[in-house]
Amino acid sequence: MSTARTNLRWWQTAAIYQVYPRSFQDTDGDGVGDLPGVIRRLDHLCDLGVDAVWINPFFRSPMKDFGYDVSDYCDVDPTFGTLADFDRLLAEAHRRGLRVLLDLVPNHTSDRHPWFVESHADRGSPKRDWYVWRDPAPGGGPPNNWISFFGGPAWTLDRRTGQYYLHHFLPEQPDLNYRNPEVVEAMLDVMRFWLDRGADGFRVDVLWMLVEDPHFRDEPDNPAWRPGMRPRDRLIHCYTDDQLETHEIVRRMRALLDAYGEPERIMVGEIYLPYPKLVRYYGTPQTPECHLPYNFGLVERALGDWRPEVVRAVVEDYEAHLPPWAWPNWVLGNHDRPRVAARIGSEQARVATMLLCTLRGTPTIYYGDEIAMTGTEVPPDRVRDLPGLRDPLAHPPRDPARTPMQWDDSPYAGFSVVEPWLPVHPDYRTRNVAAQRDDPRSMLNLTRRLLRLRRESVAFLEGTYRSVTAPQGVFAFVRAADRQRWLVALNLTGAGRRLEGEGGEVVLSTHMDREGRERNALELRPHEGVVVRIA
Ligand code: GLC
Repeated sequence: MSTARTNLRWWQTAAIYQVYPRSFQDTDGDGVGDLPGVIRRLDHLCDLGVDAVWINPFFRSPMKDFGYDVSDYCDVDPTFGTLADFDRLLAEAHRRGLRVLLDLVPNHTSDRHPWFVESHADRGSPKRDWYVWRDPAPGGGPPNNWISFFGGPAWTLDRRTGQYYLHHFLPEQPDLNYRNPEVVEAMLDVMRFWLDRGADGFRVDVLWMLVEDPHFRDEPDNPAWRPGMRPRDRLIHCYTDDQLETHEIVRRMRALLDAYGEPERIMVGEIYLPYPKLVRYYGTPQTPECHLPYNFGLVERALGDWRPEVVRAVVEDYEAHLPPWAWPNWVLGNHDRPRVAARIGSEQARVATMLLCTLRGTPTIYYGDEIAMTGTEVPPDRVRDLPGLRDPLAHPPRDPARTPMQWDDSPYAGFSVVEPWLPVHPDYRTRNVAAQRDDPRSMLNLTRRLLRLRRESVAFLEGTYRSVTAPQGVFAFVRAADRQRWLVALNLTGAGRRLEGEGGEVVLSTHMDREGRERNALELRPHEGVVVRIA
C-alpha cells in the first residue's frame, strides 16, 4: 500500500492496532488466545491497513490481572507460547512490514516475582527496598490514606515482618520503588532484553504513577467526588500521580530507546492525566520523553457525552495544549473500557472511527472495533476480571470489552475449537470478519477505506486542523496541506442535517454508498459522516 510522501517518522504515519492476546486467536485448543494465534492473523492486520501492533502482556504471570502481574519479564507465559513463538511472531510481522510493540509493566510486579519474594522474606533482604515498605501508622493501620484503583487501601500488611507494602492495584501487584536506582536499572535491562530481540518499542503501563511522594503524605479529599464515582477518586492524587521524578525515569527509558538508532524504537505511555500535565510527557526537543503519551480525551470525555460541542472542545483543548514538536494521537477504547460501539451504538461507532482516522495524529484501533463488536453481557458466573469480582462497585468487570474476536460464523466464531475463556458475543454469526469482508458497506471495509485514505493523503497525515461552523448536531473540520483540502463532516445525531454552501466531492461516506460532486449544499443523512474533497 502506498503512503503519501512526507518527512514524517514511521510512528507518525502509522496506525496502531491493539491485540488482547487472550482473546484474539486460540491455536492450541485451550480456549485462550496465544502468540501463534497472533501470527496466524497477521494478514488480517495487513489487510486492514495498520502498521504496528501493540500486544497486551504475554510475560510469565499468575494471571491475577491477566498479565499485568508479571512474575518473569523475560519469558513468555506458557498460556501464550514460548520465546521461540515470540521470535517467530516478530519475524513474521517484520516480513509483512508490521512493527511490534510490547506492553511493559514497570510500575508493579506479581507478588510471585522472585524480586518480591526476596523483598518480602525479611526486613534485611537486599531487595527489601525494591518495593515500597512502610511501618504502620502510629496508632496502627495503613501508613496513610492512599486508595487502590481496585478499591480498598493501597497498603497490605505483612504480619511476619510487621510492615505494609504499597500496591496501587491488587495486593498481588506490589509496587516497585523507583526511588531505588537498582530498580530503574533492572527495568532498563528488561527493555534491553526485548529490544535486542528486535521489538519495535513499548506501550508502558501506568507510566504516570511510577513514583510516589517521598514523605508519604495523606492525599486531600476531592470535593468533586460524588457517589458513583470510583472510590479512589475520593482523594486528589497529588502524592501518587505525576510526581516530578517520574519524568527523569521516562527520559532514561527514552534515551535507551534512542540508543538503538534506526528504525526508531518507540514508547507509547498509558497516562490518564489532564492535558496540561499529559503533554509534559512529551518532554522537550532536547530531552524527549514519550513518542506518544496516550490521549484519552475521547474515551474519558467525548464518548460519555457524544455531542459535537464536547467532541470539538476535546479536540481543540488537546490541540491547544500540544507543544509545537509534539505528535498527537487518538484512541476510542482499550481493554479497560467499554467498547466504543457499546457506548454510542454501532452506527455512531462508524462516525467515531471516521473521526479517529481523520484527526491529526496516530490512531490506535482496539481489536474488534473494526467490525464494531459491542461487548457481551457477561453472566456473573463467567466474569473473570478479578478486581471486578472482588469489588464490582469500585471496579466494574472489564470482561465485556475482552470477549473473543469474531472471525467467522463457525462455532466459537473461529476463535477457538472449545468453549473460550469468555463467552463469544451471540451476534458473531452475522458480525464477524469473514462476513464483513464480503460486504462492501461493512464497518470492516469502512475502516480499511479510512486507513487507506489517511495514509495516501498528505493533508490527513500532516495537514493543519481547523474546525468549521456546522449545524446543530454536526461536527465539521478541515484538514489542509499544500493544495489538498478535505472537509470532514460528522452527523452525531439520528436526524438528517444540511450544510449550506459546502460543495465538493464526496469521496467517502460512513454509509459507504455515495461518492461524487455536491454543489452548494451538503446533505447528511442520520448517523452519516463524510469526507469531502474541497480543493
Ligand atoms: C493498566 C492496564 C490495566 C491493568 C492496570 C494495572 O491500567 O491497562 O489493564 O489492570 O494497568 O496493571
